[in-house]
Amino acid sequence: MIERVVDILRSARIVTVSSGAGMSAESGVETFRDAQTGVWTKFRPEDLATPEAFARDPRFVWDWYRARRAKLGEVRPHRGHEILAAWQQRFERVAIITQNVDGLHHRAGSGEVIELHGRLDVVRCTGCGHERQTLEDLGPDPRCDCGQRLRPGVVWFGEMLPPDAFEAAQEATEACDVFFVIGTSGVVQPAASLADFARAGGARVIEINPDPTPITAIADVHLPMRCGEALAAIDQGL
Ligand code: OAD
Repeated sequence: MIERVVDILRSARIVTVSSGAGMSAESGVETFRDAQTGVWTKFRPEDLATPEAFARDPRFVWDWYRARRAKLGEVRPHRGHEILAAWQQRFERVAIITQNVDGLHHRAGSGEVIELHGRLDVVRCTGCGHERQTLEDLGPDPRCDCGQRLRPGVVWFGEMLPPDAFEAAQEATEACDVFFVIGTSGVVQPAASLADFARAGGARVIEINPDPTPITAIADVHLPMRCGEALAAIDQGL
């Protein structure tokens, strides 16, 4: 199967990657839906990741985001992120569309990263809308200079994606010859629908995930492996 992927990549010019929490798992960031360790096995999304939850109990929501922000200082990109960044030298274009909010693709050196769900290291004012990038611990209920409450710069359930992000993702999906889907359970829209767009646009779809997902059925190749290991094997074959 690795050889098949290598073969497909040999004639590719544009590679687009759609990544989810499984891409960051080997850096030590927990996923959302893995059976034992997933965030949503311990918390309900409606208590932590909705505008209503934040309005109801901002300190509870901030507690969790402060812990996740603090963790970002301890994690670093792994070999898989580095290989994707290095592929920029090998292919005409490598676009990364990610649902991850940890910035690890950027930190690994990928230049074109479309972050569909925002970023953990960004805070935004709920009043004036001012955004700033900081990993500083801002306390239990931080405020903007304008006096209004600050919130994490991520996308919550029921919210719009950042302006232009989905259009950019669609463009990168339609433009590619090969579309990788790495480490996402493929259940959160609209990100999950991108594999269908890729397929409809004639791209080969390659999924890397130890487990099958709703995307597996439309993938040309499913590599049932961890992404670090799979990307290293593919890269070695190229
Ligand atoms: P999930 O936690 O739903 O899925 C993670 C996927 O990664 C699973 O399918 C795992 O099998 C797979 N996986 C685990 N370890 C892996 C590894 N080492 N290599 C490759 N794959 C691995 O995470 P997402 O699909 O990213 O949104 O979740 C999508 C969205 O739901 C998130 O962005 C977040 C969440 O609720 C919001 O909070 C709005």
